[in-house]
Amino acid sequence: MARYEINGGKPLHGTVTISGAKNAAVAILPATLLVSGPCRIENVPDISDVRILLNILKDMGASVEELGGGTVLLDCTNVTDTHPNPDLVRKIRASYYLMGALLSRFHKASVALPGGCNFASRPIDQHIKGFSALGALVTQTDDYVHLEPSEQGLAGNRVSLDVVSVGATMNIIMASVLLPGQTIIENAAKEPHIVDLANFLNTMGAQISGAGTDTVKVKGVEKLTGGTYAIIPDQIEAGTYLAAVAAVGGNVLVRNVIPKHMECITSKLEEMGATITNYDDAIRILVEGRLQSTTVKTRPYPGFPTDMQAQICVCMALADGVSRLTESVYETRFFGYCSELESMGAEILINGKTAIVTGKEQFHGTSVSAHDLRAGAALVIAGLAAEGITRVQNIHFVERGYERLIEKFTALGADIKRIEE
Ligand code: EPU
Repeated sequence: MARYEINGGKPLHGTVTISGAKNAAVAILPATLLVSGPCRIENVPDISDVRILLNILKDMGASVEELGGGTVLLDCTNVTDTHPNPDLVRKIRASYYLMGALLSRFHKASVALPGGCNFASRPIDQHIKGFSALGALVTQTDDYVHLEPSEQGLAGNRVSLDVVSVGATMNIIMASVLLPGQTIIENAAKEPHIVDLANFLNTMGAQISGAGTDTVKVKGVEKLTGGTYAIIPDQIEAGTYLAAVAAVGGNVLVRNVIPKHMECITSKLEEMGATITNYDDAIRILVEGRLQSTTVKTRPYPGFPTDMQAQICVCMALADGVSRLTESVYETRFFGYCSELESMGAEILINGKTAIVTGKEQFHGTSVSAHDLRAGAALVIAGLAAEGITRVQNIHFVERGYERLIEKFTALGADIKRIEE
């Protein structure tokens, strides 16, 4: 088991380049199952969730060639397997996208229930509701989902989601791409990675409109053909580096970002006292002196992302004054990291969906443990800000979603090492 060892208290200076978006990549890679012909996907982040997905696709018979520099050549033309390896499927959350992609292309699938970060109960009833509306007969056991055509057959339909779900929106888009007729998804999620998936599929010949609004329309086509597509930059990775500079202090240019995607995060950091300058595809953050307290409520895009809850909590825990942080997507997410931050000196009172965070001048280093991906990122930020040595255990969670984290923080002047135990 490896750990990070951080000698904190060093302000961050320099330039960091953001990688391709994890939550777009983990949808676009399984979506290549819908395509007849080779797909050249660029800006693919080198993270463990992506490695597992590529292994799942290879194991199913796809040709996967890594060309270096984040480019992967994938060809799923000859795949016939509709039962992906359950041991691999259970390792990540995004393997649920195999259901939609296989249903659309082969009209059947048997996929184990996904694993991934279990910071909350994460049902997939809205995905199932969508597949059923498209005419699938869905049989769910304790650990599997089996999909096949119902008597009336598979075809496009109207689906209104009961909750705004990123995964269900993308899965229903995938499931409907190769079905006859039109699918209309209402109350759809609007995250940038949904637009990215739709752009990828449209580049390959799909007819999807409205992605990024709450109504997405998919007109089924007979076939998608191969092409080249570059994944968008990762909003949350960029937000994590911005939050790190906010918490630790310094002056950093965050490159390869889409500033529009970052507004929900940068506006809060500005409120807390950071100076933000937006460029075409970069953001500079300058932080001198102590942050001010603020109020944040997480919401689906374009609101403040739940995936930045833990990182902004670290900023609040070091700010001057009392902040309020309300979680409205996953209520139990606080439990993944708040007690660890308290062991470093933070003062956090959790009252239902809201954490009341009383800012402290300084954290002190100690041993802490990551319980999920973003909780782990928050502990890294806390360690960078703390006085003394912080040891972060369970870093496999962090490695699910952050490419070359040690290298990137070291280049900014941080003293952080990965230690194999
Ligand atoms: N929900 C349901 N039923 C469903 C689906 C979702 O009740 O069928 C509920 C969830 O319990 C939650 C809310 O709807 O309360 C939103 O969940 P959503 O489906 O949007 O989440 P997800 O698709 O499972 C993705 C990201 C998460 C991110 C959430 C919210 C991927 C692989 N995961 O999860 O990313 O937190 O959207 O933005 O895209 C992360 O990157 O660290 C991460 C956890």
